[in-house]
Amino acid sequence: MKATITLLPGDGIGPEVTAQAARVLEVIASTFRHRFNFVTAPIGGAAVDETGEALPAETLAACERSDAVFLGAVGGDRWSSLQPHQRPESALLRLRQHLDVFANVRPIRVLPELAHRSPIRLDPLDDVDIVFVRELTGGLYYGQRQRTPDAASDACEYTVHQIERVTRTAFALAEHRRGLVTSVDKANVLETSRLWRDTVTRIAREEYPGIEVEHLLVDAAAMHLITRPASFDVVLTENMFGDILTDQASVLAGSLGMIPSASLSDNGPGLFEPIHGSAPDLAGTGRANPIGAILSAAMLLRHGLGLDLEADAVERAVTETIRAGVMTPDLSPNGHARSTEAVTTAIHERLVRHEFAVP
Ligand code: NAD
Ligand code: IPM
Ligand code: MN
Repeated sequence: MKATITLLPGDGIGPEVTAQAARVLEVIASTFRHRFNFVTAPIGGAAVDETGEALPAETLAACERSDAVFLGAVGGDRWSSLQPHQRPESALLRLRQHLDVFANVRPIRVLPELAHRSPIRLDPLDDVDIVFVRELTGGLYYGQRQRTPDAASDACEYTVHQIERVTRTAFALAEHRRGLVTSVDKANVLETSRLWRDTVTRIAREEYPGIEVEHLLVDAAAMHLITRPASFDVVLTENMFGDILTDQASVLAGSLGMIPSASLSDNGPGLFEPIHGSAPDLAGTGRANPIGAILSAAMLLRHGLGLDLEADAVERAVTETIRAGVMTPDLSPNGHARSTEAVTTAIHERLVRHEFAVP
């Protein structure tokens, strides 16, 4: 197939992990005989430095013209004193809104080889396999903000339509998994959460009677995710809760650097990005874990381009690489760690080796 993929490397370790994801997409293209046309465009602090704007019009236009968009990460201290709408993070929020990627799918899987790397004591018999579906284009992130010298406010708003569409994404996923959706809210306090819970309950009853639904308050959910992670299947939640709970749940998998994501709309290109940030503490050291980015490339192949076999190949190569003990320092703290590039090279070698196994 022919596809145009826009790469938005961004800031900090963003360009480093984007380069690794692109290497993997290139080997997939040559192995499976696809033609991927890569377009690189500036976003975030890098775009501010280059063009004066965190989200240049040409970058948005390139994203619109592409079949899928890959983003590294944005942000850093250098740009944190800019006006709120000029900040790198604001560019990412506007990009998500513009592409209308309302469903942010964040899988948290714990490989048995890494269970002991988590600071959380996991029962080795427990199979942790959770998919978070985080609403991405509403809530506190997009409400009106106000600031006076002695007060500030951020409005949290949700419409029924916004809740319905992301709820359908979560239930459709659960149908192909273990058939359980846990909806997380704060319905004991927030009006948006009461609307959330009513809407999820109605969609479940009317459209997905075969799927089991559980409602948890977000504070208790944070605890249950640590004490009984294996009992979760699909976790559906609003924008801010999903941001926080997924960084927390990444600890189960051994590192924040392991977790990919796919942000999907009803039509138009998806946006694929690791869930971690620009990690200024790691930038330029060769220590960033590239796996969150590489697994985001696998999600791009699967959800963005419909290439399931190719996505499977990438995921298998990642698992085999970890199994062989080839890992960055976040997963391998005892002096045996490898660099960002060396981990990708190991994944690359395994992908090429699989070439002959592919039909
Ligand atoms: P962060 O995710 O960048 O880093 C948090 C911690 O995790 C750090 O200790 C970091 O070293 C570690 N870490 C992150 N990615 C890693 C990787 N691939 N391998 C190994 N370790 C990794 O969060 P932060 O430090 O709070 O934020 C830094 C900047 O990134 C801020 O400007 C923030 O706004 C931005 N940010 C951007 C995104 C995004 O672009 N999607 C996401 C989160 C944060
Ligand atoms: C993420 C990040 C972003 C978010 C920031 C950088 C705007 O933390 O992608 O998880 O909060 O959505
Ligand atoms: Mn986050």
